[in-house]
Amino acid sequence: MQDLIDEIADLKIKNNATILAHYYQEGEIQDIADYAGDSLNLARAATKVQTSTIVFCGVHFMAETAKILNPEKRVLLPDLKAGCSLADSCPADKLARYQEMLRINGRNFQTVTYINSTAAVKALSDWVVTSGNAEAIIHRVPADQEILFVPDRHLGQYLQEITGRKMILWDGACMVHEIFSVGDLLVLKRKMPGAVTLAHPECPANIREHSEFVGGTEAMVKHVAGFAQPTDFLVATEANMMWRLQKEFPRHRFHPVPGITCACNKCPHMGRNTLEKVRDCLLYGRPEIEWQPEFDRAREVLQRSLLNPEPVGAGAV
Ligand code: 13P
Ligand code: SF4
Repeated sequence: MQDLIDEIADLKIKNNATILAHYYQEGEIQDIADYAGDSLNLARAATKVQTSTIVFCGVHFMAETAKILNPEKRVLLPDLKAGCSLADSCPADKLARYQEMLRINGRNFQTVTYINSTAAVKALSDWVVTSGNAEAIIHRVPADQEILFVPDRHLGQYLQEITGRKMILWDGACMVHEIFSVGDLLVLKRKMPGAVTLAHPECPANIREHSEFVGGTEAMVKHVAGFAQPTDFLVATEANMMWRLQKEFPRHRFHPVPGITCACNKCPHMGRNTLEKVRDCLLYGRPEIEWQPEFDRAREVLQRSLLNPEPVGAGAV
């Protein structure tokens, strides 16, 4: 494996490339990345990259976002088929028809879209949010307007609870976060009464309500950093996040909340990227994210939402 890592390091220099990786990538990929983070920080980091090429180790919507925010850069995604069940749940033509139906019915609304969506869906939106800025963005929607929140119904429901804003929710869900077993979580909590449960807001309400902390991946890192004494954490998010937490906080112990059907909780889309594919995309200069017509409109929405945060009252979920 060291040979492969050395080869990637050489190719990175030859290609004037920067490697960005999401926390849900395998540890060996996070280890070779120049920067690892959550969706929000990765999108922002992509705008500060000095090299001409970005290798985005994550899923398609993340690499697409990096390209949209940096049209002049070459953005490579190690596996172009790395998709997302949430993005798949909201096709742009279906959303456009639904928005039209709401308008015909006289509804006055803004569309707030989770970043886990296609560029065509972002182009139909007023705002794009991540787990890291959703609460702050919801506060920017004028109080006299309704909110259509797409595509994650669990995140939308959570945002309703914490902001008090009633929302029209799209019926999408993340295939990884939806399958945590509340029965197994309760068994673990009984076995480890001192443990702190961390849940991503993509989890359903039955998991969130038994969690001491609900937040996106970066918010989890910050929360865990506040525990000085060795602590047990039960983690309800994608399994590779535990690798990250364990690396940053060796004093603590992290335990996965089991899934209903399988105990691994790994995202199969994120898992498509491998070190070999990172090497190959640098070697052959593909797969590359190509500019699409809908990127222009999506760019306006992304810039306004992610790069122009309002400092007052801005809080990570
Ligand atoms: P965050 O890292 O922004 O919390 O996102 C989680 C996720 O589901 C990415 O696909
Ligand atoms: Fe999509 Fe869920 Fe995988 Fe994130 S973990 S990329 S939301 S399927």
